[in-house]
This record gives sequence, structure tokens and C-alpha cells, in this order.
Amino acid sequence: MSRNFYKPGKPRRPGHKRPASARPAHSAPAREVFEVRIEKMVQGGEGMARLPDGRVCFVAGALPGELCKVAVTFTKKDFSRGHVVEVLEGANPDRVEARCPLYGKCGGCSLQHLDSEKQAEYLAQVERENFRRIARIELPESFTVHTGPAWGYRNRARVVVVCDQAGDKPIVRFGFRKQESNSVALFKNCPVLTPALNDFLQGRAREIFAGKFRPGREMEVNLFDNGAGEISYYYEGMPAHEFSENAVSVAEICGKKIEADAGVFFQSNLALLPALVKSVRDAVDEGLASGEASDEWLIDLFSGVGFFAAMLLDKFKRVTTVEREEKCLQHAKVNLSVTSGAESVVENVSAPAEEWLAQNVVDIPATLIVDPPRTGLPKEALDAIAASSVNRLIYVSCHPVTLARDTALLAEKGFKIRRAEAFAFYPQTPHLEMMLVLAR
Ligand SMILES: C[S@@+](CC[C@H](N)C(=O)[O-])C[C@H]1O[C@@H](n2cnc3c(N)ncnc32)[C@H](O)[C@@H]1O
Repeated sequence: MSRNFYKPGKPRRPGHKRPASARPAHSAPAREVFEVRIEKMVQGGEGMARLPDGRVCFVAGALPGELCKVAVTFTKKDFSRGHVVEVLEGANPDRVEARCPLYGKCGGCSLQHLDSEKQAEYLAQVERENFRRIARIELPESFTVHTGPAWGYRNRARVVVVCDQAGDKPIVRFGFRKQESNSVALFKNCPVLTPALNDFLQGRAREIFAGKFRPGREMEVNLFDNGAGEISYYYEGMPAHEFSENAVSVAEICGKKIEADAGVFFQSNLALLPALVKSVRDAVDEGLASGEASDEWLIDLFSGVGFFAAMLLDKFKRVTTVEREEKCLQHAKVNLSVTSGAESVVENVSAPAEEWLAQNVVDIPATLIVDPPRTGLPKEALDAIAASSVNRLIYVSCHPVTLARDTALLAEKGFKIRRAEAFAFYPQTPHLEMMLVLAR
């Protein structure tokens, strides 16, 4: 990867084209151009700067310390958004050339201009600031980010299949739906997808989808690589026979076989998933050893196909999984019966977690694990947890902003952070997976 374009002090050649690494993640017509100094990185991976009138501007493609020429593309009363046109001075030493030709075009992987080795460090700092700003809580000194492969890690993706016809010949191409737009960025090889997914798209997928969708039509297809060379796929309206043959697969994680279909949620970084499982299991052990939590009952809320419950089943006498998507229920039953220890009593519920909590009295210090979507915990769920006898909560989150908000609300009810860890599940993007242990 070339690092020299933005090396401090390196003279820029006149008329040199703006490099891919400085192009905006979201292209939009520029209104005004300013010279600003980037103060820090903020949530979303953008650089924060102040415009001459004092307003905050979030700058795509910028890194802390850099003096940038910025095109402002979006303005509100109290903040603006823009993108780097040029780094004028003080290029951050961690800046690198983006590797993917779709950087700034497809809407994903907007952190490619930052050295892969340094991304976790910057994002950890952003999370610390999120907690200070949103929750007024300091993450513990011990807060760490577990890292895995920087490229070729993503085992799950939603791609757009674009079918066309050249004479009699069907042409099948693949792309990603651009963020905040309906258009499609076509790609041949995506460097964050696993090699098996790229191979599938360049080979078998063309045969599978040729002729399946009407020419001129775009279809969204979910893909899943089970880590053992098997690719499953799902699209809306998939016939039942095709679904049972091609959508369902089994992934082996930490020695356990987990069944899912490509239409439901599944973790998307199988390489780093064992590290999260280990942290969750350690957190459970600590709770049981300290007496803060009981081995009488594990409640896995937002359980998907019962992933965490399956990983923890050996430690509990009774296990309840609660998941809103009915499509997950059958898989959860399979996953928890296959791995079931003889004495565990398992109950798989299909319901909104907040409704289940409101209707079921948790009057023992059960061990509770929650893994909600990006929106975080619904208020009713937070209230019910606070009113229950649960004293220890393992909160897995894919969105640190809602995690910080919920942590603040739980802190009002006496919960304190015992452990904070992050997992770089999505390198080249500004997203982090977090695990907090909260206890009272
Ligand atoms: C981030 S995924 C976690 C799934 C699972 N823990 C895993 O690791 O595979 C969040 C899950 O919550 C489910 N969900 C969303 N809102 C829900 C709600 N209000 N009640 C219950 N489940 C919900 C989604 O369908 C999804 O399966």
C-alpha cells in the first residue's frame, strides 16, 4: 500500500488528481470550500473541524491534525458535513492510500485512508469520547479492542444482483447498494469479503442467478460463507425447495455447530467471533463465581438463532432465548437441542424482547445477555431490567452510540461498568462491536 502521497512535507505535483483516499464517502455537489484544521476523529470515522464561523463540520476522508481544503456538501443550523478536497499541510502519518477502487463510491469501508494497524486505536478513542459525551461515563482503563484480519474477513453480505441480456446471453453483475441512494456500485472483487465469497460471485453465482431474475431487474441477495467453503444465499420470494437446499447452512464456531439461513441475522466476522465468545464466557464465569449472577437461569434476549445461548448452554440449568423474527425460531431450537447438555431446560420464545420482559417476572438474579440491533434497548426493556432481580448484564452492541445512551440509563438504576471490550469486526469501516458487563 502506498503511503507517500500525503507524507508531511512532500511537495504535491501541480494538477495531481485527488487520490482515492481523500475522496468523500458520500459524493454530493459542493457548495462552499473552506480551509480547516481537523481536531479529532468522531463517531462515523469522520474528522471534526470548525468552520470559520465556529460551526462544527464533519469531514469525510480527513484525519486528526490535518489542514484540509474541505468542500461542504450539507449544512444545518448547528453543523455541516463535507469531504476532503486536498490535504494542504500536516498530513497524518497514519494516512495511507485506499486499496479499493470503490472507496468513496460504494458507501462502505470509508476508513480505508487510515492504516489498518491503527484503526482500532482511533476507534477506541472515539468510543471513549462517545461515553464521555453521551453517558458522562469514563470507560475503564482496561478497555481493549480485539483485532483480527484487516481484509477478506466479511463472511456475510447483501449484494445487488443486476441481470441484463446481450443478445441471447444473460449477463449477471454484482454490486452494493450505495448509502443514502438507490443506485448500485458494481464490483468485481470486494477486498473485505472472504475469498470464498469473492470466488462464489465470480463463478457459481453467475450460473445460479442467470435467468433467475428478469433482465433489467435488480435483486438483493444475502450471502453467507460458513467458513468451510460452503456459500448459502437467500432472496425474497425464494421458492421453498431452493431455500431448503441453498439458504440453510451450518457454521462451526468454538467447536459447536450453529445452523442458520442466509435470510436471518448472523455474525459477520467468523475469524474474530471466537474472541467475543471467549470474552462472553469469561464474563459469565466471573458473574457466577462472584455470586452476582446465578446459574439457575440464562436469558438471551435478541437471540437470533440462539448463538450466545448455544455457546453458554453448558453453564446453566435453564435457558430462555427471546427473538422477534419468527424465522429464527426453528434454527434456535435446533442449535440448542444439538448442543444441549442433558440437564438444561431450554425454552425458545418468538416475541419482542420488551414484551417478553414486561410479561415475565425475573425474580432471581438470572444471567442476562442482550444483543440488540443498532437502535439499542427499547425503553420498556430498560425499565423491566431495572425492576427485575437481574444484577449483572452482558450487553453486546453493534452501535456504541446507543450503547452509551443505554449505559447512562442503566447507570441511573445503579448499574456500573465492570468490563468493556471491543471487537474490530468490521475493519476499513468506522464500526466496532462492543461488549460491556454491567453490574449493580
Ligand atoms: C444484532 S442481532 C443479534 C442476534 C444474536 N444474538 C446473534 O449473535 O446471532 C439482533 C437480533 O435482534 C432481533 N430483534 C430486533 N428487535 C427485536 C426486539 N424488539 N425483540 C426481540 N428481538 C429483536 C433481530 O431480529 C436480530 O436477530
